Amino acid sequence: MTRFRNKAALTGVVAVGCLVIFLVLFSQDVFRKVVENRIKEHAELKLNSDMYNNWKDPPVPAYLQFYFFNVENKQEILQGAKAIVKQLGPYTYKEFRHRANVSLFNNSTISATTQRSFVFEPTMSVGDPREDIITTINIPFITLLQMLRRSGITQKIFASALFTLKKNELFQSQSVEEWLWGYEHPLLKLGHKLLPSVFPGSQFGLFYGMNGTNDGEYLFNTGKGDYMKFTEVMMWNGQESLNLWASNACNMINGTDGASFHPLIERDEKLYIFASDICRSFYLMFEKEVEVEGIGAYRFILPKEAFASDHPSNKECCPGGNCPLSGVLNISTCRQGAPIFISSPHFYNGDQRLVSDIGGMEPNTEAHQTFLDIEPMTGIPVRAAKRMQINIHVESVKGVVQTSQVRTMILPVLFLNEQALIDDKSAVKLKSALYKIRVVTYIPYIFLSIGILLCLAALSLAFAAWRHKDNKDFTPVMLKLPDVEVH
Ligand SMILES: *[C@@H]1O[C@H](CO)[C@@H](O)[C@H](O)[C@H]1NC(C)=O
Ligand SMILES: *[C@@H]1O[C@H](CO)[C@@H](O)[C@H](O)[C@H]1NC(C)=O
Ligand SMILES: *[C@@H]1O[C@H](CO)[C@@H](O)[C@H](O)[C@H]1NC(C)=O
Ligand SMILES: *[C@@H]1O[C@H](CO)[C@@H](O)[C@H](O)[C@H]1NC(C)=O
Repeated sequence: MTRFRNKAALTGVVAVGCLVIFLVLFSQDVFRKVVENRIKEHAELKLNSDMYNNWKDPPVPAYLQFYFFNVENKQEILQGAKAIVKQLGPYTYKEFRHRANVSLFNNSTISATTQRSFVFEPTMSVGDPREDIITTINIPFITLLQMLRRSGITQKIFASALFTLKKNELFQSQSVEEWLWGYEHPLLKLGHKLLPSVFPGSQFGLFYGMNGTNDGEYLFNTGKGDYMKFTEVMMWNGQESLNLWASNACNMINGTDGASFHPLIERDEKLYIFASDICRSFYLMFEKEVEVEGIGAYRFILPKEAFASDHPSNKECCPGGNCPLSGVLNISTCRQGAPIFISSPHFYNGDQRLVSDIGGMEPNTEAHQTFLDIEPMTGIPVRAAKRMQINIHVESVKGVVQTSQVRTMILPVLFLNEQALIDDKSAVKLKSALYKIRVVTYIPYIFLSIGILLCLAALSLAFAAWRHKDNKDFTPVMLKLPDVEVH
């Protein structure tokens, strides 16, 4: 009898102990804190660590896709009609990123260049970029017009004659490859011959010189001592975040350069991304939870305000308070004075007038939204799409015959979709890492389960003891034996 009672008591004590341990662990969130502290400590770029290797050669395969807007009615546009364009694409290039010239400093910074190269991927493209011809705006020509705007009438007449002589028109047809990666432009060739200081080269291409090169030296924070700053861009080409384009507060370079993020992402955070192609950073905001390849992730999207002209950080980008319509940003200072405006594809989230001014625009979320799906615990991006459209601000210049009747408009030239999806091998690795983390945070529940089981055991032992006690009244002889045992 006492045997049962003692056992019941002992089991009960252990059960209560387990439940108390559970309550303490649960209320203090001890294991989550342990895990988070470990993650915070590990969020540092240390030579030859996993973090460092992933940062140096991002394992997630990325593709850069181009969609062109072919101008369908150039004669009518020259006579003042609304432009009609037709989307052609994608032309897809596999993107390889590699960080080179890495040096680690002892003040928690690391400097490196990011080399990008692009290799055409025919299986993901609609045609051959060397053969497919696109008609769109003659960008070097319109850039020169922009410069001529402020000059006198004689220069304009002289320029008009020169343009006619050199067969330069407002619209031009070239192959996809030429538009993207460069070709010898007659106007630039002439300029280069006459004024090499103003015209450094004779090639023109929207991504000319970008293959196999880097966009300058970055100085990153290694994250040591502050996981929130992990891989944050601190300087670009020797210019500090706040001094970059000092006269123009719209160009700040906080944020990462796209490939890595700090761990333990919160929903209410703004994720800053630095984009050297537009010399500025932009931010993404939490939208919803998603699942990618079996991994739970947070979806962050480009908020509507990103290209909104009334947004305070964009307002400072409009000279003389002369802001363009909401949905486009003037980045001409960043592109040698070419009147380039960026926006979301098809002016998604932009002013309705931008959409209705051009025939052929069909904005939609699925194809045109910029998003980043990120695993919040580790900060590893599992899927992303950066989507941006390049537009040209077109207006007529009095005295230049080639443009005299065109209406003022923001004409889309192409949009790019730079996308990445975690590969199977990395997905399996990430899932097993997350599984291990989860097991650790389940430890309090293991104590809870043991506590409950022991409670049940104690109860059944107590019940057995009680049954014995009942029996005692009928079989008193049995009672003596355990008492003897105890002595
Ligand atoms: C850290 O050291 C590097 C190299 O000496 C220097 O360029 C950088 O400005 C320093 N950064 C800070 C934040 O002091
Ligand atoms: C970029 O350079 C690589 C290596 O030199 C080459 O294989 C590739 O075709 C180039 N891509 C383009 C778009 O020219
Ligand atoms: C960029 O970083 C600087 C210094 O860390 C900070 O003062 C500034 O507010 C940040 N800018 C934005 C837009 O977050
Ligand atoms: C775009 O910005 C440039 C440089 O700040 C400025 O000269 C130009 O007038 C702007 N374009 C428009 C259409 O506002």
